[in-house]
Amino acid sequence: AADVKILCIDDLRIEASEKLPVGARDFYNSGSTDQITIAENTTAYAKYRVRPRVLVDVSKADTSTTCFGRKVSFPLGVSPAGLQAMAHPEGELATARACARRGINMAISSFANYTIREIRGSGLGVAPIKHAIQMYTLKDRGLELKIIREAEAQGCTAIFLTADSPVLGVRYNEWRNDFRTPDGLGFPILGWDSERIRKQSHDDSFMTFNDDAHNWARDIPWLRSVTKMEIWIKGVLTAEDTLKAIEMGCDGIIVSNHGGRQLDGVPATIDALPECVEAAAGRIRIHVDGGIRSGTDMFKALALGAEYVWVGRPAIWGLAYAGERGVELMLEIFYNEFKRCMQLTGCNSVKDITKSCLGVVRPDGP
Ligand code: FNR
Repeated sequence: AADVKILCIDDLRIEASEKLPVGARDFYNSGSTDQITIAENTTAYAKYRVRPRVLVDVSKADTSTTCFGRKVSFPLGVSPAGLQAMAHPEGELATARACARRGINMAISSFANYTIREIRGSGLGVAPIKHAIQMYTLKDRGLELKIIREAEAQGCTAIFLTADSPVLGVRYNEWRNDFRTPDGLGFPILGWDSERIRKQSHDDSFMTFNDDAHNWARDIPWLRSVTKMEIWIKGVLTAEDTLKAIEMGCDGIIVSNHGGRQLDGVPATIDALPECVEAAAGRIRIHVDGGIRSGTDMFKALALGAEYVWVGRPAIWGLAYAGERGVELMLEIFYNEFKRCMQLTGCNSVKDITKSCLGVVRPDGP
């Protein structure tokens, strides 16, 4: 009954934002520079109209699909967003349990506040969930390899190589608030303890370990040579880079703009998706994240050719609102909205969600 006030993801955002201290709230909720891309990630969905078929028997509509070769209850996962223990002490452990309970997958950020072993263990304690490990290209190749070996040892399925971050985006909020990771929280996957992190701004920490010399030719063949985990490129927004990922033998791409936190002014992901899908012509798997806030948004992304979608901030808001229960509530909202959208459009399976399910596109936005 306490959740009557949380009926949709925006309710969750508002409640969570009220609970968080300003530094944490701005860190989670903000995008970069003028906040154009972060805003458009969500508003761009309103341009796309759904084209429903009526008088279809949808009594047995099935939302399930597969991701990383495993059946999932519906096509949603939790994106790799760091610092989840700042939203709730159980952080990624709670997220992993909620994902497992709901039967979906999760990606672990390199900036997680718990180890890969702890997060995997937390999810597996509930159900055989699959995890991707999100990675940056590190200056320290030894450390990069160590993370890969640990991810393999713990049974991670895929690497999400974040490709949109040679440097961090311009995030005024972090500078204004002199944002520091709260005392006591570390980045154990990177081997950084709280004391070391607190000495520097987030931006400086990032520059210390991240290699801005990263590139396709050097990094992808190297990754391929050291691991059998799937390799996914996270942060693709163009046909050109989709083709590059195919050429380099990657397993998939995540059409993403990092939730509007990297370069402001790049397109909303739902607008970048069609050119990537067209260029791919079925030769590489395509997922998308950024600004997805309802089951209908999920439906539109699938209709435009994504196989699976991910959400970042909604999980953080769930955590801030009520820890594991809040993340479960968030997933429940997405699940119910997505199922209802399928039924109201006459779709009985995820495969039925095709281009013909979308009608009018208003090019000038909502
Ligand atoms: C992120 N994201 C992110 N991505 C990544 O590759 N590595 C990371 O460590 C992080 N960390 C991170 C922290 C926070 C607080 C946020 C909000 C996001 C980006 C994330 O994986 C995803 O691309 C976006 O969050 C998706 O957009 P929405 O759903 O938040 O709009």
